[in-house]
Amino acid sequence: MKKFSVVIAGGGSTFTPGIVLMLLANRQRFPLRALKFYDNDAERQQVIAEACKIILKEQAPEIEFSYSTDPQTAFSDVDFVMAHIRVGKYPMREKDEKIPLRHCVLGQETCGPGGIAYGMRSIGGVLELVDYMEKYSPEAWMLNYSNPAAIVAEATRRLRPQAKILNICDMPIGIEGRMAKIVGLEDRKQMRVRYYGLNHFGWWTSIEDLQGNDLMPKLREYVAKYGYVPPSADNHTEASWNDTFAKAKAVQALDPDTMPNTYLKYYLFPDYVVKHANPDYTRANEVMDHREKQVFNSCRAITAAGNSSAGELEIDEHASYIVDLATAIAFNTQERMLLIVPNNGAIHNFDDEAMVEIPCLVGHNGPEPLTVGDIPQFQKGLMSQQVAVEKLVVDAWEQHSYQRLWQAITLSKTVPSASVAKAILDDLIEANKEYWPELH
Ligand code: NAD
Ligand code: G6P
Ligand code: MN
Repeated sequence: MKKFSVVIAGGGSTFTPGIVLMLLANRQRFPLRALKFYDNDAERQQVIAEACKIILKEQAPEIEFSYSTDPQTAFSDVDFVMAHIRVGKYPMREKDEKIPLRHCVLGQETCGPGGIAYGMRSIGGVLELVDYMEKYSPEAWMLNYSNPAAIVAEATRRLRPQAKILNICDMPIGIEGRMAKIVGLEDRKQMRVRYYGLNHFGWWTSIEDLQGNDLMPKLREYVAKYGYVPPSADNHTEASWNDTFAKAKAVQALDPDTMPNTYLKYYLFPDYVVKHANPDYTRANEVMDHREKQVFNSCRAITAAGNSSAGELEIDEHASYIVDLATAIAFNTQERMLLIVPNNGAIHNFDDEAMVEIPCLVGHNGPEPLTVGDIPQFQKGLMSQQVAVEKLVVDAWEQHSYQRLWQAITLSKTVPSASVAKAILDDLIEANKEYWPELH
């Protein structure tokens, strides 16, 4: 069986150890010959990499492991690039979340003005990764889950149209796991779904078991009462995420024929979100105080002890969708997966040039999108507005245009007026000086 060489871009990510453990657990179906990390922050990456080196030595000494901040070293001789970078890291996420809140607008990693600000930072970072891959391993595929995936995907569609990059998100996977629990199935792969939308902005229209039984009636009844909080709630879910899963109840009420993506709460209930936010302590603070500390402390402990049992790193089981995607390409499995792809007629009554999240069959040539057909007015209206925001952000980045970015923020459903949009924009420009192109 062929063995693969993988580079993880964003080696210093809090998710890297969980993904390494997941890759090790899945190496029967996706064998590795080499694993490399790449990051532009040597110090941050080293902490994660030194611990992973020990784990790999314990579990799979035959896999060649290395890490580097040098693009040529990292991107040469690879079959897959798994990309999860965060340009500006958590301190900039904190600003994305807190600046809009100062103007009574929600602050979120990928939605509203915060997501737009993050997009303006991410586009350049991800394009750079694509260029390294094309220069040093032109045959490779990039599996990208760097956020904000919707804006990054529009930028790569437009600016690197030939690139072998697939953009994917884990939110539908997480929600489907909850749906499976709700209907009493062991895992989400025992369901076949139809879904359409944009990234972090979509709806399930059909959910069946593998025998073709309709699971929607049962789900509808349950979600109308409890949202996506399953009957036996696991104590892994943090309180803030639990609120989001519970709020799906209100989101679902807007269109009871479908099941919503949880991120729609930010667009449909922005007033609720602002009211329940603490402007001095946002999700970035929670992540820095918990996940980041936990992962980095564990890695330091493992390195100091020279032994993986000194830390508490958990396998990121649900990240195995990344292996599903890699094996679909490597072994032409034709697995059906939700990917962010150019619409190209899949949704009949929607912009051909929009990046949409829809089911695709994935094989060695990449994704083959399935037909969605016509979508209803409510969804079409919301999606048209949001896709325009995403396109305007890429326009702004490309043209260095203040005007386009002001329009983008104004058009976001999360922002009440052009004057509020302008005030937020001016604060974001100040905060993002190091990262954004200079706008005029
Ligand atoms: P993190 O800050 O812990 O890690 C990101 C790493 O990227 C850092 O080590 C940073 O130094 C590095 N980096 C930043 N800019 C870079 C550049 N230009 N080149 C190389 N490396 C660079 O962040 P995290 O919370 O672990 O998340 C990582 C990314 O994964 C984020 O974009 C996050 O939004 C995304 N994510 C996406 C999904 C999804 O569903 N698509 C799910 C989870 C996380
Ligand atoms: C989900 C989304 C990701 C997002 C993440 C944020 O997994 O699909 O796109 O980055 O949530 O999680 P966090 O724990 O960092 O707030
Ligand atoms: Mn996502």
